[in-house]
Parts: sequence; structure tokens; C-alpha cells
Amino acid sequence: MNKPGLITVLLAVSCISPAMAENTLTGMDHRAMHQHMMMDERTPLNLSPQMAQHQLQNMRSHVVAVQTIIGLLANSDFNQAADVAHNQLGLTEEMRKMCNVISDNKDFNELGLAFHQSADQLADTFKTKDMKKSLDALHDTMQYCVQCHATFRQ
Ligand code: HEC
Repeated sequence: MNKPGLITVLLAVSCISPAMAENTLTGMDHRAMHQHMMMDERTPLNLSPQMAQHQLQNMRSHVVAVQTIIGLLANSDFNQAADVAHNQLGLTEEMRKMCNVISDNKDFNELGLAFHQSADQLADTFKTKDMKKSLDALHDTMQYCVQCHATFRQ
């Protein structure tokens, strides 16, 4: 089934009261539907404003690190790429401390920890200077970015 079709069915079976169903037939309350579809179902971390700023800053430097790594790989500069992966994404002592203070959500902290450990494995893979393995490992590490963003919000 295509996506709009699936969404229509989901809306029809899951959340339309008889009154709303009638409304749907006569011309749907578009604003209500829009609001429903915009609902953010991710787990909130409820960070303090200060921690929230701190975390976003940290995240922005993760993007810079990934961009730097891709540029270095393109130039086959594997050792430099390994340094960036280890120092900027890996589980350094500083990173461990920072992660622990941001949130006390256990699942979030575990995912963060697994992510940083995967970045250390990434650094080791870069040292093999095998491009295919390196790209595979980068793909695996970035899966943590994707997974965490799909699961949690500030
Ligand atoms: C353990 C969880 C976790 C991991 C892993 C993670 N992030 Fe995030 N990231 C977050 C959360 C939570 C937010 C806030 C999202 C929100 O509130 O909508 C965020 C926000 C961001 C933002 C937005 C920054 C801003 O200024 O608005 C960027 C960019 C980002 N992450 C990049 C990355 C990249 C790149 C990676 C992987 C290399 C990564 N993140 C890994 C949890 C994570």
C-alpha cells in the first residue's frame, strides 16, 4: 500500500470517533488531522535549558566530525580519520563525563555509550586502510545517530 493510503487507513481505524468520522465524510477537519500527524512520539529527555544547549552544541560538533572524516577518507588519509573518530566521537574520558551529566535516562545513556564505543571501533577500522570496510563501519556508527534521533528528543 502506498504511504498516503496507509495513513488514511491508520487514521480510520485508530483514532476517528463517530463524530470525527462524519466530519471526515463531509470534509475533514484539516487542522486537526495536521496536528495529529505532527505529534512527536519520541521520548522526551526533559533536559534543563543549560544541558539542552550544551547537548546541541555537542551534536553540532558531531556533524563536523563526520564531515571531516568523509573528507579525509576521500583523500585516503586513514590515520587522520582515525584520530578524528577517536578524539571527537569516541569514548574519551571527557565524553564519558559529559554523557553522564546530560541525562539520567538509562536507555539514552546506554545508546550514547554504545555509539561512542562504535566510534572507537570505527577508528580501529580506519587504521586497516581498507576503504570498503571503513565506509561500512562509518555506516554502522551513523546508525546510532539515526536510531537515537528516532527514539529521543530533548
Ligand atoms: C544517544 C543519542 C544520540 C546520538 C547517538 C546522537 N544524537 Fe544527535 N541528538 C540527540 C538528541 C536527543 C537531539 C535533540 C533532538 C530534538 O530534541 O529534536 C540531537 C540533536 C542533534 C542535532 C541538532 C543540533 C542543533 O543544533 O539543533 C544534530 C545536528 C545531531 N544531533 C547530530 C548527530 C550526529 C551526526 C550523530 C552521530 C554521529 C548524533 N547526533 C548522535 C541525540 C543523539
